[in-house]
Amino acid sequence: MGKDIIIACDFSTKEDTFSFLDRFKDIKPFVKIGMELYYSEGSDIIKEIKARGHKIFLDLKLHDIPNTVKRAMSVLSKLNIDMCSLHAGGTSDMMRAAAEGIIRDDGTRPMFIAVTQLTSTSQESMQRDLLIDEPMDKVVAHYALTAKNSGLDGVVCSPHESSRVHSVCGKDFLTVTPGIRFKDSVKDDQSRIMTPIEAKKAGSDYIVIGRPITTSKDPVWVYGESLKEFLD
Ligand code: C5P
Repeated sequence: MGKDIIIACDFSTKEDTFSFLDRFKDIKPFVKIGMELYYSEGSDIIKEIKARGHKIFLDLKLHDIPNTVKRAMSVLSKLNIDMCSLHAGGTSDMMRAAAEGIIRDDGTRPMFIAVTQLTSTSQESMQRDLLIDEPMDKVVAHYALTAKNSGLDGVVCSPHESSRVHSVCGKDFLTVTPGIRFKDSVKDDQSRIMTPIEAKKAGSDYIVIGRPITTSKDPVWVYGESLKEFLD
């Protein structure tokens, strides 16, 4: 499975999304579609972006009882998406069921990625609200290993966690890492950031970049420069 950059298309409408993607002309970046766009536009947006030739990470972070997630994954997988996500906190029973549901009739399936602990969850809030007393890096590594043993292909994590995840789960287990910023660019609400080249050195397999590309005056140039940094 190759390394790539995934652009987080965090737009609220189809029109905004397509006017952004139109700027790339014949270049077809791998894109991430999240809850806001999917819930407002429905599955048609996925079909249309696929028809334009993009790979899609559908980042809906499913979390429910095993049977419900299994059936939902079966529906999503048939949209021919290339990557999708669920919460490892749903336990191995839920992940195993989902890993069955995600297989298409022809035996193929999208890359299947677990969210460990959200980067918005602090050590303090994890202890206070979830009653988890272990250190965050140990929790992330444990969730990643549980995801691997349940049949998943990788995890979403901070680039700072990529090498620990690979050392626990093996180098072929994918790390998909948001929290990417360029030197001198604003951090927005991300706290634990890395540049594309730092993420590459840390072993991230896919990096997810949103605002540094989507709000730039020249997104195509920024995307091209990011690719050079991450892939060369
Ligand atoms: O704009 P920015 O580069 O911060 O976008 C990062 C993307 O990755 C957003 O879509 C955000 O929701 C997502 N994400 C994240 N941290 C996680 C999981 C997903 O920033 N732990």
